[in-house]
Amino acid sequence: MNSDSDLQIAGDILEVPHLLQPPREHPATVAEFAGLARALASDRSRWEHLVQYDATTRWYHRLRTGPGYEVWLLSWVPGQGSGLHDHGRSSGVLTVLDGTLTERTGRGTRALAAGAQRVSAPGSVHEVVNDTLEPAVSLHVYFPGLTEMPMHSAPDCRASRGPRPVTA
Ligand SMILES: [Fe+2]
Repeated sequence: MNSDSDLQIAGDILEVPHLLQPPREHPATVAEFAGLARALASDRSRWEHLVQYDATTRWYHRLRTGPGYEVWLLSWVPGQGSGLHDHGRSSGVLTVLDGTLTERTGRGTRALAAGAQRVSAPGSVHEVVNDTLEPAVSLHVYFPGLTEMPMHSAPDCRASRGPRPVTA
């Protein structure tokens, strides 16, 4: 009879592939995508020199792509906003890198300071705006990669499916 501390593996361990796989190179879960974003956020040398601020049009830059995901860097000058939108069938993790952004959803408004993270489920509707007097920078992970960003018109929130105007 085995005690609780005994572990016996019946058969050949080489036939149990999941015990032999190396750590994943790419994130594959919401927690891992959030972790990737935090790792990038904490290493300013990876993104700070890339950021541009554009008062006339929203600026964004695809920082990285991997199997099943994309990472975008966005800047927001004071007053710039995304408009009300969803991310199609993509989930998203938004991480504020610099400054403060305001997120509006059907459930209310919240200020997101540097370091804050928000997860968006596929089809969930939100609007992001820089309501402050300082520029802001954010990092957005989409999985799968963003293929459409339907805009919604307040107050009925019907999606209008047109060309993707901007990433957010
Ligand atoms: Fe968004």
